[in-house]
Amino acid sequence: MISERKDDHVRLAAEQQSRQGGYNQFDDVTFVHHALAAIDRTDVSLVTRFGGIEWTAPLYINAMTGGSARTGAINRDLAIAARETGVAIATGSMSAYFADESVADTFRVMRRENPDGFVMANINANTSVANARRAVELLEADALQIHLNAVQETVMPEGDRSFSHWGPRIGKIANGVDVPVIVKEVGFGLSRETVSALRDLGVYAADVAGRGGTNFAAIENGRRDHAAYSYLNGWGQSTPACLLESQEAGIPVLGSGGVRDPLDLVRALALGAVAVGASGGFLRTVLDGGVPALVHRITAWLEHLRALMTVLGARTPAGLAGCDVLIRGELRGFCVDRGIDLRRLAGRSRSYGTAYETPGGIE
Ligand code: FNR
Repeated sequence: MISERKDDHVRLAAEQQSRQGGYNQFDDVTFVHHALAAIDRTDVSLVTRFGGIEWTAPLYINAMTGGSARTGAINRDLAIAARETGVAIATGSMSAYFADESVADTFRVMRRENPDGFVMANINANTSVANARRAVELLEADALQIHLNAVQETVMPEGDRSFSHWGPRIGKIANGVDVPVIVKEVGFGLSRETVSALRDLGVYAADVAGRGGTNFAAIENGRRDHAAYSYLNGWGQSTPACLLESQEAGIPVLGSGGVRDPLDLVRALALGAVAVGASGGFLRTVLDGGVPALVHRITAWLEHLRALMTVLGARTPAGLAGCDVLIRGELRGFCVDRGIDLRRLAGRSRSYGTAYETPGGIE
């Protein structure tokens, strides 16, 4: 039952990618171009640090799959690509392992193929502290993701219907495991109120996983006979919207959901993400072209990231948060309603210091 669902998710998410294209709210984020701000490519470092975590690049392959023979093979390929490019990686939800230990290797393969990499386990917010520890042990995980997916569960015919225990359970897990806990959505976004609540529960970091890319309302509607909840297909906040309103969240915020290319990656970092994740697009790449295609794509993204940081005068990913950013369109309306200071965002290089402090820079 669970393994069939995992295969369905992969198939429907990959089909969704072929229909992707066109507008998402990252298009509403543009940079003010400062012609004298550019630095030397050799001055750029992609290393990102948040809390005690250090990654060689601010990019990760976000949670997807495991639990069936086919998805185990996908996890193997994703893990090899992560190893070859040095980016962090998360497994998909490990509920299938708690239900049936015989599928352990479809998750464990991620560590076997990537022994020295940064690997994250992934569980739902119903999981007992004991099972959360088992998940971390199986993967020798460096961090534990907990996903929040009330909309997906609601549309899923066999989904959960009770969510009130999630907060207290997350607090228990955060206290009960000895790796950092990162709470994420699955494509509907985290509001600033949610991120604050997660901080108060002792969570280490939040991954907004916003709207704009893989759409689990549409995927679960595709698994139902009559797509009964199709009116929910536009639910949630976009990734840039979530990042904009969580800039002073008090915990590190990661950005994922609808990241299409290196420019979206730079946009997310400029809006305050400490690192940026992609799932559906990378899945499609690995299904179409295998490990070499995904290695090539991630390598190109990192090279382009360096190029764009050079043009923008940012020596580090955190330095991008000093760039002047303009918000227009739908996203601007969201910012106005939620009280986000757009003038500060558009003129922050004047006060920030780091991005433009180089000799020959604009300050
Ligand atoms: C996912 N996602 C996901 N998230 C999670 O926390 N646990 C999971 O088991 C899954 N499963 C899953 C399967 C497949 C096939 C996809 C494509 C995605 C959600 C994922 O981590 C991410 O939050 C969303 O996909 C949004 O990012 P993209 O796909 O727009 O880059």
